[in-house]
Amino acid sequence: MENMKWWQKSVFYQIYPRSFADGNGDGIGDFSGMISRLDYLQNLGIDAIWLSPHYPSPNFDCGYDISNYTDVAEEYGTLEQFQEFLDGAHQRGMQVILDMVLNHTSEQHEWFRQSRSSRDNPKRDWYIWRDGRDGGPPNNWCSPFGGSAWEYDASTGQYYYHFFFKEQPDLNWHNPEVKAAMFSAVRFWLDLGVDGYRLDAIGTIFEHPDMPDHPVEMTLDELRLELERAETEERRDELMHLWAKMEQYQVEQPGMHELMQELRAVIDEYDDRMLIGENEDLSYHGNGSNELHLVFNFPLMKTDKLTPDWIRRNQRQRLKQLEAISPLAWPCNTLGNHDSPRIFSRYGDGIHDAEIARLSLALMLTLRGTPFLYNGEEIGMSDLYLKDLSQFRDMLGIGYYHTQVQALGVPATEALSRAARLTRDKNRTPMQWENQENGGFCPADVVPWLPVNPDHAKGVNVEDQENDPHSLLNYYRQLLKLRKNTPALIGGNFQPYHPSNKKVLSFLRQIPEQTCLVALNFSSEAAGIMLPEKAGHIKVLYAYNPISEEFKPGKQVRLMPFGMVIIELYAAVMG
Ligand code: GLC
Repeated sequence: MENMKWWQKSVFYQIYPRSFADGNGDGIGDFSGMISRLDYLQNLGIDAIWLSPHYPSPNFDCGYDISNYTDVAEEYGTLEQFQEFLDGAHQRGMQVILDMVLNHTSEQHEWFRQSRSSRDNPKRDWYIWRDGRDGGPPNNWCSPFGGSAWEYDASTGQYYYHFFFKEQPDLNWHNPEVKAAMFSAVRFWLDLGVDGYRLDAIGTIFEHPDMPDHPVEMTLDELRLELERAETEERRDELMHLWAKMEQYQVEQPGMHELMQELRAVIDEYDDRMLIGENEDLSYHGNGSNELHLVFNFPLMKTDKLTPDWIRRNQRQRLKQLEAISPLAWPCNTLGNHDSPRIFSRYGDGIHDAEIARLSLALMLTLRGTPFLYNGEEIGMSDLYLKDLSQFRDMLGIGYYHTQVQALGVPATEALSRAARLTRDKNRTPMQWENQENGGFCPADVVPWLPVNPDHAKGVNVEDQENDPHSLLNYYRQLLKLRKNTPALIGGNFQPYHPSNKKVLSFLRQIPEQTCLVALNFSSEAAGIMLPEKAGHIKVLYAYNPISEEFKPGKQVRLMPFGMVIIELYAAVMG
């Protein structure tokens, strides 16, 4: 434990600034709101904050289209307020990492304005410009955000490349000036004292130098529709395989590891800062200490039903691969973020959603690795399906709707309900602080930037849950505290226990001084596990819906559907 770094021990909490807390009453979250909620975060018991983009942006992609890397968006506040937030977090013992978007800027960034102004502008080569082919784009590459990955710029007669929206032109990372400019932006915030970065979409930084056509005879928009209509797992796999083929020249290209090493060297100029990549590829750990500190375990969350088998398989693969890299390569688990459905909706079965939400947190806090939580999950916020296109803010959902209707002939009502499920608006709605108009996020007479989920009036809000000792929020606090006080849950190795049990996921976490046994019933039936014969003395650290009243070595522990127990064993036992 003493040798562990802060980012290995910490529980991270992602703040989506636009939706977290509105301090100035304009319906948009901001720094004064965030500052006023620092005590809340400290009481919750998290250790570090990942702040989604807070930079100036035209918000075409909700802040992931940055127009100035060294300032704060006006609607969020000032640089002074940012500093106050950062210092306030530090004073309360919480670290702060920022989101850094390296792959692209906003089309409104001064660099791109210059780049597009003429073919011989010194910044022309900061972006990726090519001549068209046969009256069309340079090749058949698509953007996963819809349409071609190329946009024609009439004033200079060339196309520029954008992996994401056309409002997010890709930077040319082969140009050393780009690298220098971005590294200086990275240093800017490190100099102010931030503790590191979450690196946005890092796999997309380089493209194949020859830019060959991909071999799939379909557009990505068509493929996405097929995917939605696919009825079997096999068909879905087949389509996902095609998707990967379509993107093969646009992602994970050579040069990434060298670049990450250079970036790591920048980070290492400072004391104890960290990098986490929005990527699941463990090779980004490099040799364990020369690239990224963490990458996300996204494969774990890519299911609609968490089962013991699914989780075990995932852990087996990930932990084995990490071990092979270096003892310094550390896991990182998450089940939700601003791009994915809310945990409560995604993994719930419609009957036991509240219990499953508890189990999901227990999983995050007891697996080996750094957990990342997403704001609002601690009160059980769920996806809000918007009913009217005019309420949509995420251009991905809006674009998707129009493509469905106009290009693919999908009836408007079907397109709207598909878009409501696809759009990331559903999981970005404002934080629900109170049982009041607008959930206490902003004043009652103000229209928030996205509608507040009406379930704030049914107990899904911070204030009501603070007053209820059995609420999800108080459970989060309890379990976060338990983890903090249980070194084996933080630093212990991971050893599956009863690995063929289909209902209960159980495993040991062990350091020389402490052994914990975690048992999580992921089924809708009562189920149990046998406690080890040689368990010695047993101490129950936490139990939720156990059936057994006694916990004795060699005896069964029965758990209600989705019940759980975390036990400390006072003897070295290995299953
Ligand atoms: C990342 C962000 C996502 C954004 C995209 C483009 O995936 O998480 O929100 O739309 O990058 O910047």
